[in-house]
Amino acid sequence: ISGCSIRVMTKGFEESLSLFKDKISDCIKSNKSISITTHNDCDGLTSGSIITKALIREGAKCTIRTSKEFSKNVVQSFKTDSRDFHIITDLGGGFGNELNQTIGDNWIILDHHQISDEEKENENIINSWKYGIDGGSEICAGGMAYFAAMALNEKNSDLSEIAVVSALGDRQDQGENKSFTGKNFEIANTAKELGLVEIDLDLLLVGRETRPLAEALAFTSQPFIEGLTWNKEACFSLLKSSGIELKEEGRWRVPSELNDDEKKIVIETIANFSSEKNTSELKSELIGYTYTFPREDKRSFLRDGREYSTMLNSCGRISRSGVGMAICMGDRNKILTEGEKILTDYRKMIKEYMNVLSNERWRISESENCVMVNGEDIVPETMTGSISSLIAGSPKNAGKVIILRTRAEENTIKFSSRKSFGCKSSINLSDLMKNGAEKFDGIGGGHDSAAGAKITKDKLDEFLKYLDVNVVNVSSTSNSE
Ligand code: C5P
Repeated sequence: ISGCSIRVMTKGFEESLSLFKDKISDCIKSNKSISITTHNDCDGLTSGSIITKALIREGAKCTIRTSKEFSKNVVQSFKTDSRDFHIITDLGGGFGNELNQTIGDNWIILDHHQISDEEKENENIINSWKYGIDGGSEICAGGMAYFAAMALNEKNSDLSEIAVVSALGDRQDQGENKSFTGKNFEIANTAKELGLVEIDLDLLLVGRETRPLAEALAFTSQPFIEGLTWNKEACFSLLKSSGIELKEEGRWRVPSELNDDEKKIVIETIANFSSEKNTSELKSELIGYTYTFPREDKRSFLRDGREYSTMLNSCGRISRSGVGMAICMGDRNKILTEGEKILTDYRKMIKEYMNVLSNERWRISESENCVMVNGEDIVPETMTGSISSLIAGSPKNAGKVIILRTRAEENTIKFSSRKSFGCKSSINLSDLMKNGAEKFDGIGGGHDSAAGAKITKDKLDEFLKYLDVNVVNVSSTSNSE
């Protein structure tokens, strides 16, 4: 893309944001009520919260609800809804025409999932790809919502903090050492300049400032290290044998207290434990930029951006989206304890699913470049994304495409696909899932390295054959059909 067309595209983004501002100002002036419909994952909860908070600040009448997916039914529900205007965040790709036909011009989508060229022409769709911004790595719905909030009022710059959480939750920390690139980098810098976030290069253990070292390692599931993840005793013995002092003056040391040499020892020790071939990739997964929110309580799980995002993902996955959104919008009372409990329950659940999947080997079939996992009757539909991400984060699957499937409601099968770290495949998972699902009357989409699909059960065999042809038996550099 030439410099000139980038400028045209960026200008396009500004024009779209100004259209957003006009539409919202019109709603406020004429006392119209606004409904926000958002996705129930971390990016959905953050983007919905950013917009809601910005609208409340402007004095708009608004309500927010979450949905696990967008569908004809959701569009139809808008028709009978008493609200006058609809904002859809992190959802809605492919439904532009249908929205026009159903509710005319009374809607806006803020999104970052890949869409068709035809949809890019629709002025009510404010999608990053339209402006040449990579929605898979440079911005997510939280970032799009942040820019929309800034178009309403520059005082909303404090919401950059929540946009950082959204980018972490959507795994957009894909630059060197898990840094941000593009718009995400810009947003994180704004948050940093405002003193809302501290950015450091450090060990990526969960609970960096809050958990004893062995516990922090046991809580770390990205990378997922079989034998260590969720196994406190094993982590304790391993670290003890490494010679690192685990206690100081009778108190357990937390990862951030280790000096650089000790951090190196931790990484080497973990890499030696995991007898996988891919130790260099494993090591690089253990180091990266951390995002700490200094205004949160010293002992709070909200201090660490990645843990904050895991909590939000868990809220959505177990149908407690309201708790996550309340926290994003600033509630720090009893709801915080609820958020913490949800996080604990969620970790317990994914631990159980992962145990079953690794014990029942018949569920897993591997080829040179793909791992297919059958999660039927084990993994609930809402958890497929979390579990496929975990499987993709296991060093033994490095370089491969992961495809997890499970039974979903109304006789359907849900697929969740991920590129694991080090995966060089040129297959675009969004195209793969979208094209495949559409071939068999299903629905699919997403991003280059993380996408999902849903088909009816009677089409399962054909869909699996399609995957065989387009991923399982494809050399790692070819494209899908
Ligand atoms: O469901 P899963 O977590 O695997 O989805 C991966 C990504 O693909 C998510 O960002 C999700 O919103 C997106 N997706 C989509 N359309 C679908 C299914 C998933 O855009 N039909």
